[in-house]
Amino acid sequence: MAEALILGIETSCDETAAALFRGPEIIHQITATQLVHTSYGGVVPEYASREHNKLLGPVVKSVLEQSDLNLSDLEGIAVTRGPGLAGSLLVGLSYAKGLSIGLDIPMYGINHIEGHIFANFIGERELPVPFLCLLVSGGHTQLIHVEGPQSYKLIGQTRDDAAGEAFDKVARLLGIGYPGGPLIDKLSKEGNPDFHRFSRSAFPGTYDFSFSGLKTNVLQYAQKQDKGFINAKLPDIAASFQEAVVDALATQTMQAAEDLGHSRIVLAGGVAANSRLREKMLHFTEEKSIQLYQPDLKYCTDNAAMIAYLGYWKSILSLPDSLEITAVPNLKLNFID
Ligand code: KG4
Ligand code: ZN
Repeated sequence: MAEALILGIETSCDETAAALFRGPEIIHQITATQLVHTSYGGVVPEYASREHNKLLGPVVKSVLEQSDLNLSDLEGIAVTRGPGLAGSLLVGLSYAKGLSIGLDIPMYGINHIEGHIFANFIGERELPVPFLCLLVSGGHTQLIHVEGPQSYKLIGQTRDDAAGEAFDKVARLLGIGYPGGPLIDKLSKEGNPDFHRFSRSAFPGTYDFSFSGLKTNVLQYAQKQDKGFINAKLPDIAASFQEAVVDALATQTMQAAEDLGHSRIVLAGGVAANSRLREKMLHFTEEKSIQLYQPDLKYCTDNAAMIAYLGYWKSILSLPDSLEITAVPNLKLNFID
């Protein structure tokens, strides 16, 4: 029997995304990035939910049409229920509930963070667990020991800003623009990472991170120079900042893997798209014969394929959710002690 056709929906932040999935492969996915936020230098929550409302129907229609499929072909629907912006999550969840009732198909509520972690294995029927996961996104910087879906132990985390947040804030203060991560990554390719050594924070005896001191360090450095110098040296400054972030992430991750005896490391979240982080982690893990999993670039930042893939796992385990479930803006992973 063919496996169920599942529609994935993701509306937690500023991407309106839909994906079609039949185990264990993605058939097609569409991600509409909301451009309305660009001029504000960050996501405006009220605009985000309005845009989701406007875009979600057409995005689902297009993903079906481009795959020669109809709504009536769907056999399950997976939707992000958190974490994310309350209004944005509600748009996706309400839409999914409507489809679930209208088509009489099961609905699977998905944790967006779990989606990022398991996006590494889209296309696989087996999960190579256990592993150490470096989760780095706009809202998270965590090192997690993963036994399998729903079985996590927190090893370390940021004490202030998330890595993605640091990229976005530094890009704003240097006038590079929004979204900061991809722009700094691109600009850094033309710069010298050793141009200036920005501060790195360390918390001996823990696997924690901190990026707010680094952000202040960049700000103070920029304030001391004149504008012409900053503009001329922007690629070098961007590359030096990126190097400080990547250095902290890669060093802590490798230390944790070594201390805890992990033979697999998994990168997850938007910052896992960073070319320098990918390069450095590849180099470090090769040296130590550790297997590295890095998500396909199209599955690093927010997308619906990762949501549909977890829906597939829940469908195999026959774990549909009740239509009573609500959006949970601060939904966490369930950590064991
Ligand atoms: O996972 P994600 O799409 O959304 C959240 O769930 O937060 O991550 C978005 C974050 C943003 O802060 C963005 O600047 C960062 O990921 N990001 C990057 C890159 N691409 C996206 N950071 C560094 N380098 C990149 N290439
Ligand atoms: Zn995300």
